[in-house]
Amino acid sequence: MIGGRSLMKRDGAGGSQLPLRLRIVAAIAVGIFLGGVFAFFYPDGLFVSSPPIHHSIANSDLEDVSSSCESSERINMLKSEFVAASEKNAQLKKQIRELTEKLQLAEQGKDSAQKQVLVLGEQQKAGPFGTVKGLRTNPIVIPDESINPRLAKILAKVAVKNELIVALANSNVKEMLEVWFTSIKRVGIPNYLVIALDEEIASFCQSNDVPVYKRDPDEGIDSVAKTGGNHAVSGLKFRILREFLQLGYSVLLSDVDIVYLENPFEYLYRDSDVESMTDGHDNMTAYGYNDVFDEPEMGWARYAHTMRIWVYNSGFFYIRPTIPSIELLDRVTGRLSRENAWDQAVFNEELFFPSHPGYEGLHASRRTMDYYLFMNSKVLFKFVRKDSKLKKLKPVIVHVNYHPDKFPRMKAVVDYYVNGKQDALDPFPLGSEW
Ligand SMILES: *[C@@H]1O[C@H](CO)[C@@H](O)[C@H](O)[C@H]1NC(C)=O
Repeated sequence: MIGGRSLMKRDGAGGSQLPLRLRIVAAIAVGIFLGGVFAFFYPDGLFVSSPPIHHSIANSDLEDVSSSCESSERINMLKSEFVAASEKNAQLKKQIRELTEKLQLAEQGKDSAQKQVLVLGEQQKAGPFGTVKGLRTNPIVIPDESINPRLAKILAKVAVKNELIVALANSNVKEMLEVWFTSIKRVGIPNYLVIALDEEIASFCQSNDVPVYKRDPDEGIDSVAKTGGNHAVSGLKFRILREFLQLGYSVLLSDVDIVYLENPFEYLYRDSDVESMTDGHDNMTAYGYNDVFDEPEMGWARYAHTMRIWVYNSGFFYIRPTIPSIELLDRVTGRLSRENAWDQAVFNEELFFPSHPGYEGLHASRRTMDYYLFMNSKVLFKFVRKDSKLKKLKPVIVHVNYHPDKFPRMKAVVDYYVNGKQDALDPFPLGSEW
């Protein structure tokens, strides 16, 4: 087809002497002949857009048949075909690269999905509407006694149903510690343990028949333990707790500015990695609420909804021995070693911030304790002591977390709830006066 057209052109340009009809017949004959030749050498057609064919044309004997003019024209066309083909080739390569990337991502996804299945058990179909429930009670780790055989022995003796109260103490908090363990003994809680951070506290506990554990010397921990301020010592617990969880125990971590009025183990749900008392003081602040932020200049969309919750109190929480729990301890310990931060703020940030670009969130399950049963001192001194109904309620514990005059307030709590002294809470101001 192409060959025929270019031959006609050449014929017309030549200006032959033969009669018109004969010239047409000759032209057709030559056309058919050359068509046959092309068909023989190029059964796939001239313009197959792959470089090798272009190459073979360039070296072909057929160049002799055509004039140099028309073959250069053809070469130009083939060149442009080649450029187009190269572009197409580049596009295809890009597509292959993209598809390979997608395949790799899919493989990764499959991999982590399989890990999830390994952890969570069989893959399942979703049940009917209203019957499906996600996992919040993660499987516990296999206990590993080899990491601390001495502690393993102590815990085997002290723990009840693989759980116990644990408190850290150094001599700075000795008098509060006494109120603390006296209240625990009064309620009759057997499963509690003091981690003594110095010798004085260790012997103080021993002489009072309080279960005590003195850690093996560890330079990094010991310097903080002996001389550290309130926050520094508070940060230590995340590091020390790890071994308890690795040994397979659930820990109810307790600060020592806490008075026990009931056995807390009778009031736990045990369905979450972390079950914590709150710094909140009512249903909204303790359990979470939608805090609507107003930007009038946005007009129709002036209300931005935000999720808020008062922080969990890292001085009293129940933590189950699961992978997310241990990851939480590691993350908090790691950040406290790098940043000069408040351990309670870090504890909450790790618990609550979701994954986002450049950050992988923790995704541990959480439960907020009832703020009337596990009562902070703001709830007690701001609301409960002034409310005739709430005054009759008996909390499980009271944590004097909001007030620096901890010791006198702890004794007042004991006087009020244990010794029946109705006006014991009255002399104290609501907040501290700095
Ligand atoms: C606060 O929450 C508790 C427990 O969810 C509920 O029983 C109670 O009615 C709530 N109180 C108010 C004032 O909403």
